[in-house]
Amino acid sequence: MDRSQKQKVFDKLRKQIAECARCPLHKTRTNAVPGEGDINADIMFIGEAPGHNEDLQGKPFVGRAGEVFNRLLCSVGLTREQIYLCNILKCRPPENRNPLPGEIRACVGSLDLQIKYVNPKIIGTLGNFATTYIFEKFHLPPAKISAVAGRVIDVTTPFGPKKIIPVFHPAVATYNSDKMVELVTHFQAFRPFCTNGAKVTETANVCS
Ligand code: URA
Repeated sequence: MDRSQKQKVFDKLRKQIAECARCPLHKTRTNAVPGEGDINADIMFIGEAPGHNEDLQGKPFVGRAGEVFNRLLCSVGLTREQIYLCNILKCRPPENRNPLPGEIRACVGSLDLQIKYVNPKIIGTLGNFATTYIFEKFHLPPAKISAVAGRVIDVTTPFGPKKIIPVFHPAVATYNSDKMVELVTHFQAFRPFCTNGAKVTETANVCS
């Protein structure tokens, strides 16, 4: 599929997500948050669900967790333009509660299409919900995020071999600033795969 055909697929998907009413979350959303970035990226990140700011703007990770995420990307020399970024849920759960199993089931069809068409070499799962979903999808044994964060896990998929890199959700550093050190350390697992024009140093880049 060439670039313009692929762009058309993503434009259609974006429209379908904007109009989706497959679960009750559509009733309380301001905007659905479809995902954004380079549709040909080697690295895709999957978060949990939009929060207040994401719901208002219709874009992923634009609030405080997004500031943490941008710093983590910068620590390995990556920019938002070089990755594809999306979520398990496309609509904000009220009061930012955890996604419900039925909401996840209703929403992951569009995520599966994003994975299929971006077809990244690396999938970074941000937090428990994304890690659990991707482990199940690719038939990995269930694991606690604390046991696998920062590891590089090889999987064979119908779209070719991939590496899964789970990390804690960036929001943890907004509640507990000590967690930032751990997140930056785990994020260095992306470093060997960030050489595609990104500015990579031997130690974590210091990012404001
Ligand atoms: N947290 C997420 O998991 N996703 C977002 O888009 C924002 C915050």
